[in-house]
Amino acid sequence: MNRIFSGVQPTGNLHLGNYLGAIRNWVRLQGDFECIFCVVDLHAITQWQEPAALRHSTREVAAAMIAAGVDPRENIIFHQSANPSHAELAWVLNCVARMGWLNRMTQFKEKAGKNRENASVGLFAYPNLMAADILAYKATHVPVGEDQKQHLELTRDVAAKFNNDFGVDLFPLTEPLILGTATRVMSLRDGTKKMSKSDPSEYSRIAMADGPDEIAKKIRKAKTDPEPLPETAGGLEGRPEAANLLGIHAALADSDLESVIAEHGGRPFSDFKRDLSDLAVATLGPIGDEMRRLMADPAHIDAILRDGAERARAITRPILEEVYDTIGFLRP
Ligand code: TRP
Repeated sequence: MNRIFSGVQPTGNLHLGNYLGAIRNWVRLQGDFECIFCVVDLHAITQWQEPAALRHSTREVAAAMIAAGVDPRENIIFHQSANPSHAELAWVLNCVARMGWLNRMTQFKEKAGKNRENASVGLFAYPNLMAADILAYKATHVPVGEDQKQHLELTRDVAAKFNNDFGVDLFPLTEPLILGTATRVMSLRDGTKKMSKSDPSEYSRIAMADGPDEIAKKIRKAKTDPEPLPETAGGLEGRPEAANLLGIHAALADSDLESVIAEHGGRPFSDFKRDLSDLAVATLGPIGDEMRRLMADPAHIDAILRDGAERARAITRPILEEVYDTIGFLRP
């Protein structure tokens, strides 16, 4: 069976963009693939994290996956630092990937900003750790959004160079899994910017853990323009906020933009927002409730993560041994 690996960073609260763009799709992959879902805490510390917040976030990401419907018995849910194979293989891949390849990574340039000299070495090597995540399991497929495509290409390059350098066929060339159902959710305050946990305004995003009142309030206050909703998809040209709210509606209703426009086109935003708010509360409310229930019992979440980590280690240990043999390391 094909094997999927995917990761989410435990930094800040998960929001609607994480749900509609990633987590919800994972729920749909279970059964068709062997799925390994990882809370990538090693990646999180490429930028400084407050320790208590990191612990909280790690549990919250696990809770969100489970609350959204990922079954931790059928799939593996664990946190990256609990399986040493990730860091071990990352070191090997640091010695395979070339400086020039990493220098081209756009995410590093964005995250490091103007002060590259002051970025952590880990932030620069981040894509090699991501390649290690995937290759330690010989994962065949990775569901990726637009922003992670370049990292997956690097993973393929690193895998191919390792295979070539040692004359082996050890690592697969992992395929991206582009999901038609993934939705790019934009900020509620600015329809041209991606919904983000780092936006200073709470009103820019709906958190997965938000209760019904918060969800309703944020949708009510979402930025709009003065015109009623367009009657055709073409009418969304130059109206990013309308496009975003209609897109969110379509995703939450598991429908498509055309059908939502056919139903709501021509109505004022205020009417539409009432419907959207009801829909969002009906869809996200139960997930938020379940997240809060799970978060009230951290020991239970930790037990799930521990069990997942044990199964993760059982997969990667023999693969790491194969890698070490190939390189020429003596058995300890
Ligand atoms: N870099 C990914 C992100 O920021 C998270 C991630 C880490 C990941 N390792 C991965 C995603 C392996 C897919 C596969 O979204």
